[in-house]
Amino acid sequence: MPDTLTITDNRTGQQYEVPIHDGTIRAMDLRAIKAGPDDFGLMTYDPALLNTAACRSRITYIDGEKGVLLYRGYPIEELAEQSDYLETAYLILFGELPTTAQLQQWKHEITLHTMLHENFKKFMDGFQYDAHPMGIVVSTVGAMSTFYNDAKQIFDPAIRRRQVHRLIAKVPSIAAYAYRHSIGRPYVYPDNDLSFTGNFLNMLFKMTELKYQPNPVLERALDVLFILHADHEQNCSTSTMRNVGSSHADPYSGLAAAAAALYGPLHGGANEMVLRMLHEVGSVQNVPAFIKKVKAGEGRLMGFGHRVYKSYDPRAKIIKRMADMVFTVTGKNPLLQIALELERIALEDEYFVSRKLYPNVDFYSGLIYQAMGFPTEMFPVLFGIARTSGWIAQWEEMLLDPDQKIARPRQIYVGHGVREYMPIANRKEAH
Ligand code: ACO
Repeated sequence: MPDTLTITDNRTGQQYEVPIHDGTIRAMDLRAIKAGPDDFGLMTYDPALLNTAACRSRITYIDGEKGVLLYRGYPIEELAEQSDYLETAYLILFGELPTTAQLQQWKHEITLHTMLHENFKKFMDGFQYDAHPMGIVVSTVGAMSTFYNDAKQIFDPAIRRRQVHRLIAKVPSIAAYAYRHSIGRPYVYPDNDLSFTGNFLNMLFKMTELKYQPNPVLERALDVLFILHADHEQNCSTSTMRNVGSSHADPYSGLAAAAAALYGPLHGGANEMVLRMLHEVGSVQNVPAFIKKVKAGEGRLMGFGHRVYKSYDPRAKIIKRMADMVFTVTGKNPLLQIALELERIALEDEYFVSRKLYPNVDFYSGLIYQAMGFPTEMFPVLFGIARTSGWIAQWEEMLLDPDQKIARPRQIYVGHGVREYMPIANRKEAH
């Protein structure tokens, strides 16, 4: 059987044969379907792009039904077990796991670029004392393009590579500065003896000690959380990065826009909502009543359900195991018992089972972050640090893809037809 789709246009009786590649038809092939010679041609209407592939990608694969997540073909479980964030970032960006020499060079380059220009301090100082750290990160990453004018040369591979190093290295430093600013503490310079994650903890939490020593369990846990958040194919923020990049803006401007998309509570802010929900439930005894309310349509069980995963989010499984590891150091987060009971009841309940609602990555991550001493406003910032590698990899892939052009969706115009300009004296209030 040929891989084609035959479409009959009942308006004209005409038949069209459209090729099918990779389980998709090209939307542009529909343009040939016209009701008459003046007809523009058929389009698809797909708000929020629920069923539209906007690119071909080799970076991340998700099977939402089976709960599979692969970066460049490697299962997330294996990477979380055996890799570290910088190695995973290399894999995501360059397509293959690095050799020892490549990894050493990569880590060296990133470590070299963790320092921020001193002017960033002045920039930080301009923000209100209670500014949200994610707001600071969004604006400061955008401002980076004014520090690195070479970044505009996006088609020069060596220059592009330099921006990759800068972004992976400096976004955590900016995040740490934003945090220190928000709590009124002096900024901490990077410590090149420490790992990527160890140094980030140093820049966040160092006080008067001469040398900050990260707790190895917490350092590893945060590193694994970074691995789990490094990429997730064409989500809202990644699509934003691709969209902005498609106009050939520099990567700092694109990444600021992507971070802005992540800032929203429906995306990077969901784990904060989970914590709020757990506080609201208050105790294990209140869980059945809370579930009843959710089933009656009064609010959602935050951290449950996913647009793509219709089974247990593989990242949530790893995070759940890691929570135990972290709590041996920090002490149990008292909200954990409530979360476990919510999960237990929901996974047995027909309402959640029939809708394929399972815990997602955010259900337990907030509990870990909170136990590690992060305020809730830092949660999306941590997400953004990890996702930087994914955003840049997706941006580069878009840039080098000959199929891509400047992103420019179509619309169905439902406004007025042509009408004559109304002089102000003749106008009546419309509403
Ligand atoms: N609690 C209770 N019911 C839910 C939940 C939930 N968390 N999620 C979905 N449902 C129900 C809906 O009410 C709907 O029921 P109905 O068919 O009777 O009307 C059905 O399940 C399907 O829900 P949709 O909203 O159509 O699913 P969608 O794919 O659009 O939403 C989303 C996915 C936004 C993640 C949703 O499950 C949700 O709001 N979850 C809570 C918020 C959350 O945890 N977000 C983090 C996502 S992960 C991330 O961004 C990193």
